Amino acid sequence: MQALHNKKILLGISGGIASYKSAILARRLIDVGADVRVVMTQGAQAFIKPLTFQALTGNPVHTDLLDPAAEAAMGHIELARWADIILIAPASANLMARLSHGFADDLLTTLCIASDAPILLAPAMNRLMWSNEATKHNSETLISRGITLLGPDEGEQACGETGAGRMLEPEDIRDLVIKFANSKSITQLANPNSTKLSARAQDNPAANQPSAYADHHASLAGLHFVITAGPTVEPIDPVRYITNRSSGKMGFALAEAAVLQQARVTLIAGPVSLPTPNGATRIDVDTAKSMHAAALNAVHGADVFISVAAVADYRVDAISDEKIKKSDEAMTLTLVRNPDILASIAAMPQRPFCVGFAAETQHVEKYARGKLVKKKLDLIAANHVGQPDNPVFGSDSNSLDIYWPEEGHQHIASAPKKQVAAELLDIIAERLANR
Ligand code: C5P
Repeated sequence: MQALHNKKILLGISGGIASYKSAILARRLIDVGADVRVVMTQGAQAFIKPLTFQALTGNPVHTDLLDPAAEAAMGHIELARWADIILIAPASANLMARLSHGFADDLLTTLCIASDAPILLAPAMNRLMWSNEATKHNSETLISRGITLLGPDEGEQACGETGAGRMLEPEDIRDLVIKFANSKSITQLANPNSTKLSARAQDNPAANQPSAYADHHASLAGLHFVITAGPTVEPIDPVRYITNRSSGKMGFALAEAAVLQQARVTLIAGPVSLPTPNGATRIDVDTAKSMHAAALNAVHGADVFISVAAVADYRVDAISDEKIKKSDEAMTLTLVRNPDILASIAAMPQRPFCVGFAAETQHVEKYARGKLVKKKLDLIAANHVGQPDNPVFGSDSNSLDIYWPEEGHQHIASAPKKQVAAELLDIIAERLANR
């Protein structure tokens, strides 16, 4: 049977250049058996004609809320009831803003609030619009209401810029809709009014919260993840500091992947220049001591702690208040040990599931397993650093070896950090389930 056989999909199209891809999306949904009806905003019609969709879907296209002829044919309430899924692609910043405020000032927004069908949005906008605080806030509001975000993707944008905000490709959206449609638990979680939520969702109201969605991993839904990322910086004087090499990309990718898998995420970040993943709560810190304090504060009641940060092992004992003047003499700095954040959290009596990272240049398994035991971890993810084919630091891709007690091991092959993050979360979910 076709993957979306007889599924009634109301495809909403809002104004954006990505709407040209919606024609292909409509086709791809029909290819897998969906019955597609299209609703276009006024903005969408400036980019692409309703006739295109009428020809592709074989159904009239709906554009007006107050058109007597259209209402006589299939009124807006009837259309809202008809849909099994409302998919809006592209979802513009404006559409998301209107939806988050419950506006019903055109047909598409009216249908959204007049329907109890799950709503999926594929955002598409310029990277600055996507990272704008207002859009972030609107995304969070929509997610907290059980609306699911598909993407957006990162990459080249129609405006010539590069960044996050690109609409996912039609085939990717189709595949996510198929997964969504076939996933009962997600459907229930996506509908905040459902009385059939999973036990975990009932236990934890946060399970109804983030349903930004790139893949289906319901088992992490509602869990609270605390993740440290990036380097720490340890001042020597007001202008100099000691640090570790770390871009923060792996930790941020994990935070993003965890939000996408419906977890609640607190991201404790050292100084990095990365945008906060939508849906994550970010706490910025600088020194190991401040990261330690933030982590101890955040982990109470948390389910999973992932320590990705490259924490400086030492700090300068006596930080100079004034800039140290250079001289021709050798200079000696006294360094003292920083607290081991991960080990201290793993030693707590009521502790979360603890995951460490180990960057090793040699004897990767031996050293990683050594840390697993010494720090009393549940899992450790090891990087083989210093390899010409796996630079790790600053790179967008990574490969990992995951170890856990009793000789547990799994290799994650080199892939973009986002994919590696999703695979690592799958392993964490599996280990959590076996605890
Ligand atoms: O002992 P090592 O630094 O190699 O251990 C690495 C792991 O321990 C990483 O997960 C890192 O985030 C964590 N760590 C920590 N606090 C430190 C040093 C490392 O949490 N002071």
